[in-house]
Amino acid sequence: MTADAMRLVFAANWKMHLGPSDTRAFMRAFLTHYARRPDRRVIFFPPALSLTTLVDALRDRPDIEPGVQNIHWEDKGAFTGESSAPMARDAGAKVVLVGHSERRHVFGETDDETAKKMAAAVRAGLVPMLCVGEKIEEREAGQTQAVVVRQLRAGTSVIEPHAIAGILVAYEPVWAIGTGKTATPEDASATHQVIRHELTVLVGDKAAAIPILYGGSVNQGNAQALLAAAEVNGLLVGGASLDPEGWSTIVRT
Ligand code: PGA
Repeated sequence: MTADAMRLVFAANWKMHLGPSDTRAFMRAFLTHYARRPDRRVIFFPPALSLTTLVDALRDRPDIEPGVQNIHWEDKGAFTGESSAPMARDAGAKVVLVGHSERRHVFGETDDETAKKMAAAVRAGLVPMLCVGEKIEEREAGQTQAVVVRQLRAGTSVIEPHAIAGILVAYEPVWAIGTGKTATPEDASATHQVIRHELTVLVGDKAAAIPILYGGSVNQGNAQALLAAAEVNGLLVGGASLDPEGWSTIVRT
C-alpha cells in the first residue's frame, strides 16, 4: 500500500452552488481554518465557472486539489454548453467527477458515456473519481451489489489497468444524496468491500491503494463514524461542504 492510500480523502462537491464571488469568500475563510495536513487529501469540485477563482485562491496551497464536476468525452467540437477534459486541465483542474448520480439520473448519462468520460479524463491527465450507487428501488430489490459492480465495470471498461490503479471511486447510494438519510457505517462498509473486491479483480494488489469514498448526506455528526468503517477511505460531501467552517471541521475529523 502506498503512502497516498493511507491519506483520508475529503472531497467537496459544490454542485450548482458558489459562483466566483462566493468561491473567493469561501476560500478566504476555509484556508484560515484548515492548515495543510500530510494525512489528508482535500479536493474541491466547484461549478466550472468558479474553477479559475478557486485555482487562484489556492496558489499558495498546492496541497489542495481543484477539480471539476463533469467533462464531455470529446476533446473539442460542436457541443454547445460543454467543457472538455483538456480545457479543465488547462484551467487548473486535477481531478474530475465522472458518473455522479445527478449526471446519471437527472441528465440521463449512461454507463457507456461514463466510460467515454473516464477515458477522456485519463487522456488529458485528469484523475477521475468514478461515482457509483444504487437507487432505492434497486436497494429494496437486493440489487445494490449488482448495480455498483455493473457501474464500476462499465466505468473502467475502456481504460488500461495502470490507469484504473490511479482512479478514485465514490460510493454514493442515490437515496442518500441530499436527503438527510445516510447509509449506516456497516452498510457503507459492506458495499465498499464489494467495490474493493471488484477493483482487485481488475488490477490485483494495486487495488489496495485506490481510495473509496462514501457520499450521501455526510455531515459533522456522522463523518467520524463513517470514516471509521472498514474500507471507507474518505468522504464526498455536497450540502455540508458549502459552509467553510463546517467543512473545515469535517476535513479535520
Ligand atoms: P450530499 O451530496 O452530501 O448533499 O448528500 C453528496 C453528493 O452528491 O456528492
